[in-house]
Amino acid sequence: MSHQQTEPPRLDLARLPTPIERVERIRKGWTVLVKRDDLTGTSLTGNKVRKLEYLLADAQAGHARRVVTCGGVQSNHCRATAIAAARLGLDCVLFLRTAEPTPGPPTGNLRLDRLVGADVRFITPAQYRDRTAIMTEAAGPDGYVIPEGGSNALGAWGYVRAVDEMASQWHAPPSAIVCATGSGGTLAGLAIGVRRRALDLPVYGVAVCDNAAYFTDIIDNISADMTERWPALPRVRAHEVAVIEGYKGRGYALSTPEEMSDIASVARRSGLILDPVYTGKAFRPLLHEPDRFGPRPLFIHTGGIFGLLA
Ligand SMILES: Cc1ncc(COP(=O)(O)O)c(C=O)c1O
Repeated sequence: MSHQQTEPPRLDLARLPTPIERVERIRKGWTVLVKRDDLTGTSLTGNKVRKLEYLLADAQAGHARRVVTCGGVQSNHCRATAIAAARLGLDCVLFLRTAEPTPGPPTGNLRLDRLVGADVRFITPAQYRDRTAIMTEAAGPDGYVIPEGGSNALGAWGYVRAVDEMASQWHAPPSAIVCATGSGGTLAGLAIGVRRRALDLPVYGVAVCDNAAYFTDIIDNISADMTERWPALPRVRAHEVAVIEGYKGRGYALSTPEEMSDIASVARRSGLILDPVYTGKAFRPLLHEPDRFGPRPLFIHTGGIFGLLA
């Protein structure tokens, strides 16, 4: 199947293809396939790199000198953007959301943001609500604004393409695909990519914040934008998106002892390292309601290791 002609331009930033590994020891007689997108790179790593390949190609095509984006203090997306920008010789401004008047010492992702010279600006949750206006102003005429999580029509191409990559790797399709959903772009791309290849398998996004209606709306909007810009792509509507609720725990970037104990248990049983903000929460339905996903589910490991170490 060739869809090359419809694809937007892309930079080569991620180490691809990432492997699909079999994890056997989660439950007796059951295999979970894991798409190791935590191996897209060492520091420039995780799901965001796939989105940035398209977004930063667009920034370069428009001769941007600076990229501006936003997220939480430990945002993986911001860290990946800052590192990719440094690699491409672009300036990078990050608006990081924090309720703390003085955020503590830079650790994890924030440490890497600083190391590559990003212009880090802290904003309050109230200011964050006006992030689009704040970022547009900071960008100026020669800046390029990347929305939260890189989740827009262009960024979602990263996971449309990831489905093609996986389809060339697996011998038979898995029984389901499961991923964390935080800003919706990964889930949107996967759902559209699966439909585009006419694969008969459910794609589940596990909400790590907000609720199902929030995400189905985002994905509906991303899909509408994508089909407007690339009419050959299938249209995925809100009611066709499967979002799993019930695993966000205390909320975004907050952990519970049960979540941390599941992360430790998976690590000890299989060597698979999950992060507390995204993958640790998203893997839990596979542990606690495995029957929902059929005999051979595939989990997208979207990265996040620096959040674990922060
Ligand atoms: C490690 C990790 N996993 C999953 C996600 C969720 O992906 P998305 O923002 O595309 O929903 C993110 C970012 O939000 C992330 O950093």
